[in-house]
Amino acid sequence: MVSLNGKNIVVGVTGSIAVFKAAILVRLLTGEGANVKVVMTPLAKEFITPLTMATVSKNPILVDFFNPENGEWNSHVSLGEWADAYLIAPATANTIAKMAGGIADNLLLTTYLSAKCPVFIAPAMDLDMYAHTATQDNIARLKTYGNHIIEPGVGELASGLVGKGRMAEPVDIVGYLNEYFCKCTTLTGKKIMVTAGGTIEAIDPVRFISNHSSGKMGVAIAEELASRGAEVTLIKGNITVPVTDRRIKIIEALSAEGMYKACTEIFPNTDAAVMCAAVADYTPSEVSGEKIKKDESNWLLPLKRTKDIAGELGKLKQGRLLVGFALETTDEDRNALRKLKEKNLDFILLNSLRDEGAGFGHDTNKIAILHQNGSRQDYPVAAKKDLAKNIADTIENYLL
Ligand code: C5P
Repeated sequence: MVSLNGKNIVVGVTGSIAVFKAAILVRLLTGEGANVKVVMTPLAKEFITPLTMATVSKNPILVDFFNPENGEWNSHVSLGEWADAYLIAPATANTIAKMAGGIADNLLLTTYLSAKCPVFIAPAMDLDMYAHTATQDNIARLKTYGNHIIEPGVGELASGLVGKGRMAEPVDIVGYLNEYFCKCTTLTGKKIMVTAGGTIEAIDPVRFISNHSSGKMGVAIAEELASRGAEVTLIKGNITVPVTDRRIKIIEALSAEGMYKACTEIFPNTDAAVMCAAVADYTPSEVSGEKIKKDESNWLLPLKRTKDIAGELGKLKQGRLLVGFALETTDEDRNALRKLKEKNLDFILLNSLRDEGAGFGHDTNKIAILHQNGSRQDYPVAAKKDLAKNIADTIENYLL
């Protein structure tokens, strides 16, 4: 079991009565073998002394942008680079709001804005503050930025009231991080390319041909693979969802031709490729430099075939794993098996537009995994994020 041993963790401490738990938390983290540096907001110092936090973390405490004694600069950038994880515990409503709004008026916040590592936030506040729409909106926004929220517990609060808002217990926070880092290592060292979204095929400077792909499934797969430690490159067509995991390298390739170029360049340096993009099969034979004027007659637009990217990669793959999708409306199994063979894929993810809750734009999907050796697994309708876990498990079975 992989642990926090040797991990560099920055603990951000804010001005909440729950700060007494932060001392225990830091003690537990160092006990696990983690290297801990503590950043405190100015108000946090009123709740617990820097001496206590410095003693338990075995490192000097950082509060100011510079050391007032000698002017030495406390670099939030190098702190963010040093960290394997940034844990903000306790996180007050005020700090959460500032993080959501990109405010950077103390060292804890500037470190947050420059951190490239995963960020974990353990809120702590009174129940009404926690339940307030503003706080809930801020937390929801922080989640969309890819931060991990460690939910507060229900119980007696400093105010004497009882409700949700108590910072999670230090032992549970350490458990959360342990689980994250444990999960994080299964694909460490593997380079995986994922294509996602629809392509956009220009007709003229104004018009284009595209499709309904949202990119949700591809992004969910990319994020799941990155969360397991893979070095993920996302070749991104036209997508409607944010990519929140900052570890994912994004290359935008909006047209089928652009995506072909990006994929054939990157694929040789990968261990696997997951082809989720809905690549246009046809593109205008010529792109007009000027807006095409309408007249009274019908318009026949000449189209030419695009390159089959997955098919090309299938020819180049050597030992690499190649995974494709088949979105079908009829004769699903036969079409998917044909694509599996023709494109030289290792396995194909079949989804049918005839299934309820499957296909474009939905948060759910229904897939079957068909393998070269003839075996298959069928999954019930599930959230795309959960199916991404099944797909990542299957990729692990091939790669490990
Ligand atoms: O042949 P079809 O488009 O149905 O195949 C779907 C699979 O092939 C998907 O994995 C898709 O990403 C990939 N594909 C591709 N390049 C194309 C067309 C499809 O990579 N031009």
